[in-house]
Amino acid sequence: MQLDKHQAYQQAIQEINAVLTGETNAILKMVTINCLLKQYLPYYFWVGFYCVNDGKLMVGPYQGTLGCLHISFEKGICGRAAKMEETQLVQNVHEDPAHIACDSRTNSEIVVPVKNNEGKLIAVFDVDSTELSAFDAIDQKYIEQLIQEQFEQAPLQMSYNN
Ligand code: SME
Repeated sequence: MQLDKHQAYQQAIQEINAVLTGETNAILKMVTINCLLKQYLPYYFWVGFYCVNDGKLMVGPYQGTLGCLHISFEKGICGRAAKMEETQLVQNVHEDPAHIACDSRTNSEIVVPVKNNEGKLIAVFDVDSTELSAFDAIDQKYIEQLIQEQFEQAPLQMSYNN
């Protein structure tokens, strides 16, 4: 049975929240979100986080083909999401001059800012699809809610060694 988009997000998010109950490490949260969303949403091709480090974005946990390692706030759809601190929904990446093509098979994407409990931008969450217009307001709603619920809480560890 094929789940519709709502059911797929609801089931994935329920599982993510269950696995992450009591978890305060941001890396483990990122890994779990990538894994379960990609498993439930078949149109996800690349899913992952770019973390803010020294005013730039550095690739973090992801699933998919090789991602760019560094992205400045001035480049890419990820950079635009980080700079504006607003979700970017791009129906056709080939029509957006800002897009950085890490994998030419990507045709559409959504990028959601990730903030901590002090409202500070810590990362962006990037999902790419090989389908055109794969993402819409439904994806945006579920992803924004999930990201807010998981990261806008204290305390949050940002590495393995603290
Ligand atoms: N989608 C990004 C580049 C990163 S990769 O696609 C993994 C962008 O244009 O910001």
